[in-house]
Amino acid sequence: MSESLAITPGQSRIDTYRELLPQLLAMIEAEHDTIATLANVSAALHQAFAFHWVGFYLVKQNELVLGPFQGPVACTRIAHGKGVCGTAWATNTTQLVPDVHAFPGHIACSSQTQSEIVVSIRNEQGNIWAVLDIDSAKEDDFSDVDRDALEQLAAWLSSRGDSPP
Ligand code: SME
Repeated sequence: MSESLAITPGQSRIDTYRELLPQLLAMIEAEHDTIATLANVSAALHQAFAFHWVGFYLVKQNELVLGPFQGPVACTRIAHGKGVCGTAWATNTTQLVPDVHAFPGHIACSSQTQSEIVVSIRNEQGNIWAVLDIDSAKEDDFSDVDRDALEQLAAWLSSRGDSPP
């Protein structure tokens, strides 16, 4: 099916999430193919907020491998515990990084990235099968507003981890 997004320009971030999240849920429910869904979710987040980079890394054979994304070319593989993504995976916690230069071991895929948030996506057994990584060219661009919205999104994606791509 074709998809389009309805986002009112000039709103606060929380209001944009309020408008966006039901549309993301509809996308997730409308398409059972995981790659197609992750591709459109990353495009929607990128379009709604004009983030520098939005994408998924998928857990494959004990490393993270680049999945669907929007933005500049990125590193393709991240080891368990490495960088912000590998830390989110290893610690099973959302990583909210106001200044990537102050994060030990940050993997700089783009020199423009200043702040970053990474949310783990668990399957229904609680095992992480992917992470969602969002990079901003602005310092300190993420807050609990992003954490809450993106963790809600991750919960909606959880069942896709029962047959990961
Ligand atoms: N900065 C991430 C690597 C992925 S890119 O930003 C797209 C990290 O430190 O894990």
